[in-house]
Amino acid sequence: MTLTTTFAMRANRRLLLKGGAALTLGGLTLGRLGDLAAAQDESKLEIFSWLTSPGEAPALQALFDAFNAKYPDVEVINAAVAGGGGGAAQAVLQTRLQGNNPPDSWQTHIGRELIDQYVVPGYCLPISDIYEQEGFLEVMPQGLVEQASWESEQYSVPIGVHRGNGLFYNKSVLQDAGIAPPEKLAIDDFFAAADALKAKGVTGLALGSKDAFVPAQTFENVLLGVVGPETYRKLFAGEQPWDDPGVREAGDVLAHMLDYVNPDHSALTWDEAFALVIEGKAGMNTMGDWAWGEVIAKKAEDAIGWLNFPGTDGSFVLVVDSFPLPKGAPHPENSANWLRVIGSKEAQEAFNLLKGSIPARTDTDKSIFGPYHQWSMESFAKDELVPSCAHGQASSPQFKQALYDAATSFLVDRDVDALVVALSDAAAIDAENAS
Ligand code: GAL
Repeated sequence: MTLTTTFAMRANRRLLLKGGAALTLGGLTLGRLGDLAAAQDESKLEIFSWLTSPGEAPALQALFDAFNAKYPDVEVINAAVAGGGGGAAQAVLQTRLQGNNPPDSWQTHIGRELIDQYVVPGYCLPISDIYEQEGFLEVMPQGLVEQASWESEQYSVPIGVHRGNGLFYNKSVLQDAGIAPPEKLAIDDFFAAADALKAKGVTGLALGSKDAFVPAQTFENVLLGVVGPETYRKLFAGEQPWDDPGVREAGDVLAHMLDYVNPDHSALTWDEAFALVIEGKAGMNTMGDWAWGEVIAKKAEDAIGWLNFPGTDGSFVLVVDSFPLPKGAPHPENSANWLRVIGSKEAQEAFNLLKGSIPARTDTDKSIFGPYHQWSMESFAKDELVPSCAHGQASSPQFKQALYDAATSFLVDRDVDALVVALSDAAAIDAENAS
């Protein structure tokens, strides 16, 4: 019997009796017996994500720094794959997981993405023991824990709560067009502002559709603004047909908004489009608040204003980043410790200050955050929380892809009927799969 297997046999009997679902040794989740051989090399930690933009990368580095502060001898390997929203990264990750070659952890949203894409297929180990040991249940909002759980076990640690339904604007560009800094924009007010900018020859709404999530995210924000949180939830939950008049109206509103976007949008990534607003070359941009991470990285806090996407006041579109514990992690001890560190108060403060999201933990020191974060925290505490489909939380991966495809086509053809048919067909497939 090898040394590692001996260690395993001293593992917690409770977990062994569970059929070795996950073994713990000295409080560390080591995965199944077969993983123990890999547990010998704990010199590295490979973290997979898509956090590569000027705002995202420093935030990720803050997590690496927090980890190395506690484990200075471990080499952290940054396995990030560029591409906003994780489209490219998730494709690479899927191949690695199918080839039984997981990193030590990866970025995933909570909700359907975590469960359908990673937990149900068996790529993750439960981490309820880590939640218990670290007291996460006492400090993480129940709603987030529920979306990070499957069959009463927790499977990922939420690190930050992004707000998907933002509208950011360049204060002086709007002022030059005679638009007072808006606190709130109804959809008609948006078009009045966009017309004023167009009259000055300025792009009203910067768009970067090179990243596949952007058309889908823009549509879901318009949809929320038109139909409201209750119908939005029902639509993505398959409880309301997509040929709803509100969906058609959202299509018409989005088609009208496209009259005000930069013509080169298909060549720009989300952060390149947002840079147009920071540089004063466009008036507004709808984006999740990772955009605020770009503002911070470029020290543009005084130049950029923010508000809810038109019509979405009172709602908060959840885009929650988290990290799971892979089955078969090459460095399982470091992998488990990564989750402990990123769930800590200190790491969540350091990360979210730079990322633009707010901490998942509720016990962080709110006084260290600036006006944008405070606004988002207040909204998270009082507004209707709805899951983003564009970022994988609201629906099956299949439906999300259908939304990506339909919204991307819509940018070109503005065909509302085609949009409704595509989403109705995808919902029918989901219903079929669920029956
Ligand atoms: C989201 C992710 C954010 C940010 C954004 C742009 O899916 O949750 O953290 O990375 O994509 O890439």
